Amino acid sequence: MEKAIGVFDSGLGGLTAVKELSALMPNENIIYLGDTARVPYGSRSPETLVRFAKEDLAFVLRQNVKAVLVACGTISSVALPVLKETCPVFVEGVVGPAARSAASKTKNGKVAVIATSATVNSGAYRKELASVDTNIEVIEKACPMFVPIVENGYFARDNAAAKIIVSDYLTEIKKSGADTLILGCTHYPILRPLIEDFLGPDVTLIDSGKEAAKVICKKIGEENIGADKNNVGNHTYYVTDEPSGFVSLAELFLDKKIKDEVRKATLDEMLKQNV
Ligand code: DGL
Repeated sequence: MEKAIGVFDSGLGGLTAVKELSALMPNENIIYLGDTARVPYGSRSPETLVRFAKEDLAFVLRQNVKAVLVACGTISSVALPVLKETCPVFVEGVVGPAARSAASKTKNGKVAVIATSATVNSGAYRKELASVDTNIEVIEKACPMFVPIVENGYFARDNAAAKIIVSDYLTEIKKSGADTLILGCTHYPILRPLIEDFLGPDVTLIDSGKEAAKVICKKIGEENIGADKNNVGNHTYYVTDEPSGFVSLAELFLDKKIKDEVRKATLDEMLKQNV
């Protein structure tokens, strides 16, 4: 049995990374955990987030994985160093890959970051961008309403409520003249068409989950631990709350049927045998 790549997030957002992983490596098995019983993560304290992060990682590690993608900007910002201390397999978050990509793409040196409140408060993107280039001007904005609107299916390009919220959050960024925008929360690429419509074609959007997926793919190549080319990449999705709502939105977003591959992971099961 081929080992899988483990991916986790608070809910639907990490699917943006799964979509990219399966495009880059169709033969890989993927195990996904969406902690839908406790979403959103982005308004929680660092202490709570570290606890959730350890529980999520422990669950994913029990599924026979060879690498882990922390497909949650909030956990990547607040808890990745703690997870790295104990994780027995390669683990990557979204902040470093997204910051490096943005730094290489900006032409005017102005990079905007939108993310959850916990991510913005952590200063992780600011720190990571400064480590690549101290001259980059960083404009950050927390967008706490984006995760609830995505989790509730308000992401169609013509959704009136979503359009108002996008315009409210992004007006300052538009005025700042930033030419590059990091979607620092993995839920945000689901709103990409609305964000693009508002900011126009001159702003390059960086999808943090996608950038992290590229790093995982490279690492798997370097370590020579890729799945056999005859392996049919199986995907299994675990959620900690009722699967039905997750299934319908995830199918809409992934543009494929996943109902039979979705399982419920109870919180009791998640809290067993923590790392
Ligand atoms: N998708 C996550 C992130 O990238 C979590 C957002 C949330 O649950 O608030 O930050």
